[in-house]
Amino acid sequence: MKGFFVTGTDTGVGKTVVSACLAASLRRSDDVCYWKPVQTGIEEDDDTAMVAELADCSKDEIYSEGIRLERPLSPHLSARLAGVSIDIEGILVTAANHPRERLMIVEGAGGVLVPLNDKEMMIDLIRDLNLPAIVVSRSGLGTINHTLMTLEVLRRRGINVAGVVMNGDRNDENRKAVEFYGEIPVIAEIPRFERLAADTLVPWAQKNIEPI
Ligand SMILES: Nc1ncnc2c1ncn2[C@@H]1O[C@H](COP(=O)(O)OP(=O)(O)O)[C@@H](O)[C@H]1O
Ligand SMILES: [Mg+2]
Repeated sequence: MKGFFVTGTDTGVGKTVVSACLAASLRRSDDVCYWKPVQTGIEEDDDTAMVAELADCSKDEIYSEGIRLERPLSPHLSARLAGVSIDIEGILVTAANHPRERLMIVEGAGGVLVPLNDKEMMIDLIRDLNLPAIVVSRSGLGTINHTLMTLEVLRRRGINVAGVVMNGDRNDENRKAVEFYGEIPVIAEIPRFERLAADTLVPWAQKNIEPI
């Protein structure tokens, strides 16, 4: 599988919005496909549907297979309460079943140390999928610490990080600090969209996000 694994410093930090921006931008040069292998809280949060809508995706641009859990909790707990268990082996089988040679934009759940079961965490899935990570972080106060911690943990596992995407009101000092102390490029700064919809997001992404 080729592509990127979109992770982040936290839940709600903008991974889904960033995945939609990446899909809209990267489809200009590649056949892209979005994939959410583990979704919790499916009744309220359907990231696959949100990306399909925000990036105005065709059917081929979405891989809808995956673990879908009802409770809006950490995957390990949401799975336990549903009486099932998540294992990376099974997710890798689902990944291998994807029929097309597309550039995959894979979105995690929560941050890198979110447990999937008693033994495995999201970071183990990133490593086993063997994709470079993109770290989504918020732009405001507190982001330097959270972003640097995430980068450090990813690097300790030998995971290649393609870059950081900062989400929210532009903050040049925070961007510079993340680039300097993290020794990493900030590959995009996503503004707060007043109206989150394909007709605003797609043109913005295509104009402002460079090929990675
Ligand atoms: N750049 C943005 N502009 C406007 N709203 C945003 C933006 N980024 C995130 N949001 C809002 O915050 C919510 C959480 O973002 P989301 O991308 O779903 O985070 P994550 O996938 O990391 O949990 C979104 O549903 C959306 O309402
Ligand atoms: Mg999401």
